[in-house]
Amino acid sequence: MIAMTLGEIAKAVGGTLAHPGDEAVAITGPVTFDSREAGPGTLFAAFVGEHVDGHDFVPAAAAAGAVAVLGVRDTGLPTVLVGDVEAALGLLAAELLRQLPDITVIGLTGSSGKTSTKDLIGQVLARRGPTIAPKNSFNNDLGLPMTVLRADAETRYLVLEMGSRGIGHLERLCRIAQPSIGLVLNIGSAHLGEFGSKETTARAKGELVEAVAPEGLVVLNADDPLVAAMRSRSRARVVTFGSAGPADVRATGISLAPAGTAAFHLETGSSATGDAQSHPVTLRVVGEHQVGNALGAAAVALGVGMPPDEIAAALSEAVAVSGGRMAVSERADGVTVIDDAYNANPESVRAGLNALAAMARARPGARAWAVLGPLLELGDRTDEEHEAIGRLAVRLRIDRLIAVGPAAAHIHAGAGHEGAGGEESVMVAEPREALALLTEQVRPGDVVLVKASNAIGLGSVAGGLLAAAPTGVGR
Ligand SMILES: Nc1ncnc2c1ncn2[C@@H]1O[C@H](COP(=O)(O)OP(=O)(O)OP(=O)(O)O)[C@@H](O)[C@H]1O
Ligand SMILES: [Mg+2]
Repeated sequence: MIAMTLGEIAKAVGGTLAHPGDEAVAITGPVTFDSREAGPGTLFAAFVGEHVDGHDFVPAAAAAGAVAVLGVRDTGLPTVLVGDVEAALGLLAAELLRQLPDITVIGLTGSSGKTSTKDLIGQVLARRGPTIAPKNSFNNDLGLPMTVLRADAETRYLVLEMGSRGIGHLERLCRIAQPSIGLVLNIGSAHLGEFGSKETTARAKGELVEAVAPEGLVVLNADDPLVAAMRSRSRARVVTFGSAGPADVRATGISLAPAGTAAFHLETGSSATGDAQSHPVTLRVVGEHQVGNALGAAAVALGVGMPPDEIAAALSEAVAVSGGRMAVSERADGVTVIDDAYNANPESVRAGLNALAAMARARPGARAWAVLGPLLELGDRTDEEHEAIGRLAVRLRIDRLIAVGPAAAHIHAGAGHEGAGGEESVMVAEPREALALLTEQVRPGDVVLVKASNAIGLGSVAGGLLAAAPTGVGR
């Protein structure tokens, strides 16, 4: 953050100073709600949670250098009193951006791939100038302001992941930080239980498009009809990306390496306008679905004036930053584990299964294992989607499917309906059993995908498998 006085902060957030004499206290350090992250000059945001009260951590924050608190009651440090700390952080973030008008704000949303794509954009734009992108998946009413508040006078690009939990949510986030470039990746079935239909999801995600000012830029996925249709909601210039049909930024000649990473040609411009260019990209992030994410990132980078060859080179060097998303590790005995246990929705499971199948095919004699837990938040579509995933696993010739937990029963059933029998598809009650089965049966060369909604705790299977001493494992 740029230096501000407590008086200025109180004004920006509509709060009051617990002690009027503290007006001139200077905040010169970062804003944080975690006392372990406090440092000299910090403004400490105190939240009252269900189990912990942030105000109790003020002494710890002060010991680390925090000089003031944003909270709901007076503390031992100079304090700005507000009714709602989260909303106050949003107001403070908005004020900070008003004071830093030269920052290019990039907002991105979509059903899947936001975090993966913001990590690509962050790495690409960092070549051009100081870039801030969220930590992990900081994309909500708290995560977004916290990311904005990291900006200072040096910052040139601010990449903001924007999650939407319903109509009006993105509009609210965009009031905190109005993007000059808005990117919509895809509309899938994530959180369908909440939205009710994909059309409603599209209506909600399209709020990002509407928020971009006429002089800005809107980047849309031409391969996703619900996203492409958002063009009519844009006041700004629209650039499209895709690989299935015509688009402004395209991928051609897509191929998948044995490592599960895609290569393609990044095509920009057109022969009609005489500015057609083609540059090879070899991704290091895993899965063909990353091609679309990379194209979205490329379109954003073109939008800030980066030349296509530089973008292609930057994409080829970009690595996975946030963990748990198609994180590939190889055990000493040659068992490959793809940890994708962070989250799951039908589209990302399909992407994961496709990558698994491709990787196993590229290893002669290898078997593909899919350890799948239930997908949450799909509402009354859950059983149907689970069934479809089971069927897809069989069609992709996944050798061994392990459905974890009673809620995943329809995945197993779907595989059965597609003809999987015996060992090809099994059900276990909990992650521990899946790990035990794998530990016993997995062979060198095999590829194991572990994927479910985060809440299921399947990450322990990936971790356990990697940690398991492979002694005695043989063919
Ligand atoms: N373009 C894509 N299409 C389908 N699946 C994808 C795509 N990009 C990433 N994924 C997969 O989707 C899952 C979530 O990825 P990521 O965390 O990047 O998405 P997100 O939109 O940020 O999710 P969240 O809503 O949890 O923030 C991972 O399993 C990832 O491999
Ligand atoms: Mg995310």
